[in-house]
Amino acid sequence: MGGEAGVTLVRARVAAIGAGGDGVTEEGVFVPFAAPGDLIAFEQDGGRGKIAEVIEASPERVAPPCPHFGVCGACQLQHISHDLYRAWKRDQVVRTLAQAGLEVPVGELVDAHGEGRRRVTLAIKHGVAGYHRRGSHDVMPVEVCPILAPGLSGAIAFAQALAAEIPEKWVSLLLTATLGGMDGDIRGPLHGNARLNARLAALAREHGLARLTAEREPLALYRSPSIGVGPVAMLVLPPGAFLQATAKGEDVLGGLVLDGVKRARRVADLFCGVGPFAIRLAARAQVYAADTDADAVAALRKAVAVPGFKPVQAERRDLFRRPLVPQELEPFDAVVFDPAFDGAAAQTAELARAQVPRIVAVSCNPVTFARDARTLVDGGYRLTKVTPVDQFLYASHVEIVAQFERD
Ligand SMILES: C[S@@+](CC[C@H](N)C(=O)[O-])C[C@H]1O[C@@H](n2cnc3c(N)ncnc32)[C@H](O)[C@@H]1O
Repeated sequence: MGGEAGVTLVRARVAAIGAGGDGVTEEGVFVPFAAPGDLIAFEQDGGRGKIAEVIEASPERVAPPCPHFGVCGACQLQHISHDLYRAWKRDQVVRTLAQAGLEVPVGELVDAHGEGRRRVTLAIKHGVAGYHRRGSHDVMPVEVCPILAPGLSGAIAFAQALAAEIPEKWVSLLLTATLGGMDGDIRGPLHGNARLNARLAALAREHGLARLTAEREPLALYRSPSIGVGPVAMLVLPPGAFLQATAKGEDVLGGLVLDGVKRARRVADLFCGVGPFAIRLAARAQVYAADTDADAVAALRKAVAVPGFKPVQAERRDLFRRPLVPQELEPFDAVVFDPAFDGAAAQTAELARAQVPRIVAVSCNPVTFARDARTLVDGGYRLTKVTPVDQFLYASHVEIVAQFERD
């Protein structure tokens, strides 16, 4: 096919959307931001392509809500209809489970975007603050980000002000919306001295931050960086601790966890973080909770050290190196586990040998979930319910809550 200035353009019909959210042509070339049904011209580089022109737009193509879409690396799927988007996300779960030979009806996708993302990581490089350009380490400035919750409405302005203070640095900035204002953690080589630290603390005050830390070390504290978690009105967040991406996501996942453990009286919450599930469970069951993050475990202990909760025993434990073994799992009526992207291979191997009647798995990665689910099913569990959850609107990520039972 012809092209301009030495670039060869290929013309093709887009057949589907692949697992990473890119369009896939009938010939199997992956082209970002192409919609199924589009007739496109694109620059081809091996198995990948870059869209040059949409010759005939698919009826599924819609106008993206964000002016940065298509350049920014944060969102992959603003250009397709909401129905297709929802069907595609659910299908990611259906296909991955089928590939692992796991037969179970998959529920409808639950929308958990709510009022938007309550945490964001912005990149700061050579005085520019924003997101990474798609497929690049370059940082592109952004004016708006429609997926952020109102509590992060000042995020971009603060990142830009920070970038101007540290033009020679290359760091990232994690911002979380809390009840006291934004909580910021600068990550990467800041090498602050007393003067720079004082300037950054003053900037945090001007922008109404509750707290600013660098690699979790305090720079400024103006108000308590707390969030409400289920029945707990104020849980003080440890700097940089894991938190579900949206408040609604936490609520939806928490509700599905409570539903999954049924009437269990003794529950283990593994990979508990600051305890969004443990806290909700402890309103009605005795809870053992474990996570490798000591600060998160301490925050959970403090949050439930008030009247109204059943006993919670929370400990720091590396569940990859030291998973709970069948003897330790014996007292529990139900186990909840919610590992990071890599899944929980060591812990599921032990669960597969144990006799816990109910297991609820929460996962942000269908591939490692399918691997771990396979281990449980091979160990004699029945996979009885799978619910896909969408708290990462417009991204290709999808989460899963699954129930397993043993007779
Ligand atoms: C997806 S987060 C879930 C946290 C919590 N359930 C929540 O909903 O906020 C995964 C958690 O696994 C923890 N983690 C990562 N590696 C671990 C390990 N080897 N042992 C125990 N916990 C680990 C992290 O600290 C993080 O809190």
